[in-house]
Amino acid sequence: MQKLIIQGGVPLNGEVVISGAKNAALPLLCAALLTQDTLKITNVPMLQDINTMLALLRQMGTRVDATPPMVELCADSLIHLVAPYEMVKTMRAAILVLGPLLARAGEAEISLPGGCAIGMRPVDQHIKGLQAMGAEIAIRHGYIHAVAKKLHGARIVFDIVTVTGTENLMMAACIADGVTVLENSAREPEVVDLAECLIKMGAKIRGHGTDVITVEGVAALHGAEHAVMPDRIETGTYLAAVAAAGGNVTLTHARADTLDAVLDKLTEAGAAITRSTGTIGIAMNTRPKAVNLKTAPYPAFPTDMQAQFIALNAIASGTGIVTETIFENRFMHVQEMLRLGAKIDVEGNTAIVHGVERLTGATVMATDLRASACLVIAGLVAEGETIVDRIYHLDRGYEKIEQKLTGIGARIERI
Ligand code: EPU
Repeated sequence: MQKLIIQGGVPLNGEVVISGAKNAALPLLCAALLTQDTLKITNVPMLQDINTMLALLRQMGTRVDATPPMVELCADSLIHLVAPYEMVKTMRAAILVLGPLLARAGEAEISLPGGCAIGMRPVDQHIKGLQAMGAEIAIRHGYIHAVAKKLHGARIVFDIVTVTGTENLMMAACIADGVTVLENSAREPEVVDLAECLIKMGAKIRGHGTDVITVEGVAALHGAEHAVMPDRIETGTYLAAVAAAGGNVTLTHARADTLDAVLDKLTEAGAAITRSTGTIGIAMNTRPKAVNLKTAPYPAFPTDMQAQFIALNAIASGTGIVTETIFENRFMHVQEMLRLGAKIDVEGNTAIVHGVERLTGATVMATDLRASACLVIAGLVAEGETIVDRIYHLDRGYEKIEQKLTGIGARIERI
């Protein structure tokens, strides 16, 4: 199994080029299922989750021509309307094929994802919405069996804000009969990116980026070309790394407008942030100050940045209170941080992080994607050597992470 070995204590200086967003690219690839024509997606990050999604789409009969970072997909004949357990268990985003398949082919069989390292993560809101649009859905042998001769428009009020739930129903509604109104929708930039691509494909969508999205169904969508937005979580992760390790780094191909809550917290922690079109600069010359934060749906502080800020607070001056409101079990990194000398108490959904002067290197184990990012940041600031085990989690979401970190002076290698 591959590991990362990090020699800590080196400030980070230079430039990092940000990749396309994993969580935007995954639904964009699924949008190809909505049309017989070719969909060309550019700026696709080459990650394990993307490979899994492409394998799933291929297995359904989609022709995939991948010339990284460009992927062309043509789903002119769908032959196998199934997402098997083996794929869904490694990548929950496979649920995103449910809406498009049902809308276009009238049928889909998707494995239920089950729980995962960060929480229960049910898909009841996806199911409830599709049922309101006329689908008949049964759960048998661990699979969602869904059929619908033709989906119809409906008014759907989500019980909770769900990103992939909003994306699934928005895609399905594009070629349903009549008008669908999605209330309490997710406002995440990745939802907006998907809506913009669907509009290029001929969809009639308005309200994306607000919590009420209205979709007027059309008979069919056509081919288009779309560039995946920059990854705001990858961007935030490098920013948090510089804020923790010190230094001066410029991130290019980045979008500051998708990161307001994170940039505000970094400023509060003492970092000097500069923004210009496509670029974010960060300079950090002092020990960070601890910050309090609470995760919540966009535009509030993202749950996908919580773990990285635990690492930042761990070496900050003062105490930072971090509250996680999206997932019920997203503090798995805390136990590993304690092995590096961090002082953190967890009470329910709150982590109280008492900053220490220094962390000391140790062997730690990654438990999920963002937890891994937290441990890498901790390794960059810890005294001596940190070994991060089980880094396949990192490869699901961070393109060329050790090359990018080495490029800004980090001493990190994969073995
Ligand atoms: N939820 C339900 N029922 C549903 C759907 C969601 O109860 O039908 C709950 C979840 O259990 C969770 C909350 O609602 O407690 C929000 O979950 P959401 O559906 O928004 O999460 P998701 O769509 O499965 C996406 C990202 C996650 C990110 C979350 C929250 C993708 C592919 N994944 O997941 O990304 O944490 O939104 O922003 O877009 C990651 O990249 O590391 C990652 C986990």
